Amino acid sequence: MNRLKTPRKQNTSRTRAQYETFPYPERRAEEEDQRLITGSPADWGEVVHYIFGGRDPGAEGNPIRILVAGGGTGDALVMLAQQAQDRGANAEIVYIDLSEASRKIAQSRIARRGLENVTFVTGSFVDLAADYGPFDYIDCCGVLHHLPDPDAGLRALAQSLKPGGGMGLMVYATLGRTGVYHMQEMMQRLSAEAGGRARLETGKALFESLPPTNWLKRNPFVNDHIQGGDAGFYDLLLHQQDRAYRVDEVYEFVKQAGLRLQSFVEPMRYDPEIYATDPAIRKQVAALAPQARHAMAELLAGNITKHIFYVLKADNKTAVPAMTLQGQKAVVKPRKDANARQAAAGLIPYLGRIEGARLAASVAKSGQIKINFNGFSVSCKLPPASPAIISRIDGVKTFEDIRQSFAPVPDAPSFYAQIVALFSVLSAANLMFVRQPGGKDL
Ligand SMILES: C[S@@+](CC[C@H](N)C(=O)[O-])C[C@H]1O[C@@H](n2cnc3c(N)ncnc32)[C@H](O)[C@@H]1O
Repeated sequence: MNRLKTPRKQNTSRTRAQYETFPYPERRAEEEDQRLITGSPADWGEVVHYIFGGRDPGAEGNPIRILVAGGGTGDALVMLAQQAQDRGANAEIVYIDLSEASRKIAQSRIARRGLENVTFVTGSFVDLAADYGPFDYIDCCGVLHHLPDPDAGLRALAQSLKPGGGMGLMVYATLGRTGVYHMQEMMQRLSAEAGGRARLETGKALFESLPPTNWLKRNPFVNDHIQGGDAGFYDLLLHQQDRAYRVDEVYEFVKQAGLRLQSFVEPMRYDPEIYATDPAIRKQVAALAPQARHAMAELLAGNITKHIFYVLKADNKTAVPAMTLQGQKAVVKPRKDANARQAAAGLIPYLGRIEGARLAASVAKSGQIKINFNGFSVSCKLPPASPAIISRIDGVKTFEDIRQSFAPVPDAPSFYAQIVALFSVLSAANLMFVRQPGGKDL
């Protein structure tokens, strides 16, 4: 009702104007011949793990519907469409974006790869998502924080989700972006309100004149203005419709849309114990409730520039597969019924965006894994059989197949104790997931 009278329509035009001039991120179709860009959220392995509890909803030819909301020049779209085709999935993907210029680039990338499973729509997903839904998975990366009313935007997406579906979201994080909003405020104070090239020129002149003490100059965690071309500079520093979130605000944001936060990515990055060195402090943070732990991690780290997270409908009880030892057996938490547990032996492990042979070689050398979170490095000890196990993970073999492939075959309790230890570290780092063979319920 009265949509034209709300400021939303006006502000959406300004956002649209920006992305017509500077489609984001800068991409060319020919680059598709060289590489596939993968990332979080929306990598299909992650989606199966975080949203569907290890059960691939597209397995066995089941139709699966995906929305890429604010798809821009197509990074998540191309990744999802390619992964769907590679898996032989019966997927239907809808792309919606305000910007026609962005859509043309996304379309050319999809065409370059010969992919055909995408419907392109130009307009606002706030108005249009419901017309094309409901969806099993919605990707909305780097978009909601640009809406005049992000809460309403997230509610619109939530309403277009199937009851068992979920979303992968990314919104800006306040602390890691220290200095970005100082720059935007200075632009306002200089009345540099014009959009397009004129704004870019003023912004660049201002940036060049910043003294070395300025917070943006001192912030090593943001770099799109240096590495992302004109579109990156504009998107990071000159946006006129832009906000950021702290962890507690993310929780509120998700809750008001009738959703619940399933996991931040990488989960380990939101664990305050990896940052706090003092044992007494570590003990205290370990005792906090999950939301408070995540908020503490953000405060301790200081380098989180964006929050990447998966959400489900509030009443969807699907759990992220977490492995524990019960007696002498390794078990995982199942979907939906948190009381039942299932033996881990029949599950299929797979690695996330890391080459098994390389990881196995580096773990063999040091007995540990070193993970870098945007300048913060954390080392985790891994059990002795880790390199041999990691090099056998191929996305097809179950844990039990892996055990049987050793000569001599290790005894089950000690093997699975190592699996639990390995999985706990690698899954928290977003490097290892498990799935159920054949897409059955966990
Ligand atoms: C920063 S870009 C992100 C693009 C892409 N999701 C990515 O991560 O590479 C934001 C995109 O959201 C689009 N957008 C902003 N508000 C929108 C809305 N209400 N409906 C559809 N698209 C929108 C913009 O046109 C722009 O292409």
